[in-house]
Amino acid sequence: MDSEAKLDKFTLINELARRRGFYWQSYEIYGGVGGFITYGSLGAKLKQNIESKLREIFVRKLGILETDSPIIAPSKVFEASGHVEHFKEPMVECLKCQKRFRADQLLEELTELSASEAEKMSIEEIENVIEKNGIRCPECGGAFDMPKQFLTMFKTTIGPYSGAVGYGRPEAAQGIFVEFNRLYTMAREKLPFGVLQIGHALRNEISPRQGLIRLREFTIADLEFFFDPEEPNCYLLGDVENETLRLLLAENRLRVTEEITEFTVKEALEKKLIKAEWQAVFMALAKKLLIDLGVPAENQRFIEKLPWEKAHYSSQSFDQEVYVDRWGWVEVSGHAYRTDFDLKSHMEASGVDMQVFKEYGEPVEKEQLVIKPVMVNLGPAFKGEAATVAELLSKAKPEEVADSLKKKGHYMIGKYKVLPEHVDIIHQKTLERGKRFIPHVVEPSFGSDRLLYVALEYAYRVKENRAILSFPRDIAPIHVGVYPLVSKDGLVEKALKVHKLLVNEGFLVDFDETGSIGRRYARADEIGIPLGVTVDYDTLSDDTITIRDRDTWRQVRSQIRDLPELLHRYFWGRINFEDLGKMLES
Ligand code: ATP
Ligand code: GLY
Repeated sequence: MDSEAKLDKFTLINELARRRGFYWQSYEIYGGVGGFITYGSLGAKLKQNIESKLREIFVRKLGILETDSPIIAPSKVFEASGHVEHFKEPMVECLKCQKRFRADQLLEELTELSASEAEKMSIEEIENVIEKNGIRCPECGGAFDMPKQFLTMFKTTIGPYSGAVGYGRPEAAQGIFVEFNRLYTMAREKLPFGVLQIGHALRNEISPRQGLIRLREFTIADLEFFFDPEEPNCYLLGDVENETLRLLLAENRLRVTEEITEFTVKEALEKKLIKAEWQAVFMALAKKLLIDLGVPAENQRFIEKLPWEKAHYSSQSFDQEVYVDRWGWVEVSGHAYRTDFDLKSHMEASGVDMQVFKEYGEPVEKEQLVIKPVMVNLGPAFKGEAATVAELLSKAKPEEVADSLKKKGHYMIGKYKVLPEHVDIIHQKTLERGKRFIPHVVEPSFGSDRLLYVALEYAYRVKENRAILSFPRDIAPIHVGVYPLVSKDGLVEKALKVHKLLVNEGFLVDFDETGSIGRRYARADEIGIPLGVTVDYDTLSDDTITIRDRDTWRQVRSQIRDLPELLHRYFWGRINFEDLGKMLES
């Protein structure tokens, strides 16, 4: 790779992406708007292929359900979920030029504070640091106003009623939690089960300056996996238990070391470094996904969030990070153990029961304390109010009544003093068929746009001063390019037949007949087409073509009739280009 490419890959990739139509800033004709991007055909296809890979690893093989719910939700949803209270970032405004900045990021850039230290600060602490360090607006040198918290959800009204407040969802997860009862029915009322939602999410980021990494509208893939915490039944553990995870643990971060420790999934669970088995399994699968997208294991890590960095719903969180040229370690997925936080919150706010019933293998005998009023004593003691006292006792907690009678010799229920002779305390034995509880949830959550950016960055090479996108072959937006060597003597007609043959076989095929063959190969390499098929003069006489490899530029010759089989094996049978050559020779 040449030094220019090393210097600023982010700029080179963005330039290539814009020029070749992967993506560009939206609303360009009006000057562009930060935090919004539009994908062109190649980018849209690449994104679909990445999401297909995610679905292949997380959905098809695990039998996970999918859902597709609205982007706008009534305020009740995000009040119950805690987002209205917590989904905020500290912001400062320049009094002179009115430019607004994310305060923690500003402090990280302009002082010695780390991102995490700045994130931990209260509004008052931020104000103190600004004052003490004499921090001024980096744009115009003006003084800052008092910092404040900025709610980063987009707010709207639903219909023409100003009272009907709605929010754009900052995560797809809530669309799964609020529909839990229906989804559970679809999962045939069995735990564990998971639901994935891939869709747009909206976050009104204060200063999005990192291209695809920080958008105001992006695609999120939230997978909510529900299980019984007492019996997680983690049937996939055996498949991944020897997979190693590179962990940057909270305990090390608190000792201010960036030391990465490697543990197998099994060790991490045995040492209780990861609390939930399912979470460890999804982290191993997330590592595999990123490897399949072209990011080697050594350029990935899982960083455990410190208490003040965790989202309000999480009991333990790891971010999967990938090393990128311009920004260093960047989060591509979050792995949170959300416990029963969300279902419990929606249950309380909506009044709808979201507990599940789980039948035991065998009914279990349980002893239950029951308080029975003794009416022959209660009647004379409370006269006309005896029925009221009996009613109140039926609603009281039996353990509290028994405890108070034992310790104090009476139990006060409202204004009534209940004595031991007024009630019988019975230890009643019952057979319980099962238990009712709120399932726990672990959540892997990916951002498709960040996955796409890292796939691009890890595919990007420079060979002989030409850019090549060496995508893993199965995510490439186009599989094969078909090229007539020259545009005369019937080669175009013959090449169009080859094009049609491959299209009908289900491949994504490009046809390019303009310019020299060298320029066409260069154009194809730059958008990452793994194979090129060239029709030349020999094709007319013996029906053979050449197949060219994007990465090595090697070529092999084959019969047209063998092409479909060869390409199927190459793309889905995982044989490499060298084997393709051998197959042809045999
Ligand atoms: P960050 O700390 O980088 O702001 P986050 O912790 O807010 O990210 P999560 O809330 O865990 O991110 O969101 C889940 C995933 O969604 C992230 O791992 C990331 O891939 C993606 N994501 C989050 N915010 C954005 C954004 N503004 N633009 C693009 N992708 C995003
Ligand atoms: N649902 C993932 C997140 O918002 O963090």
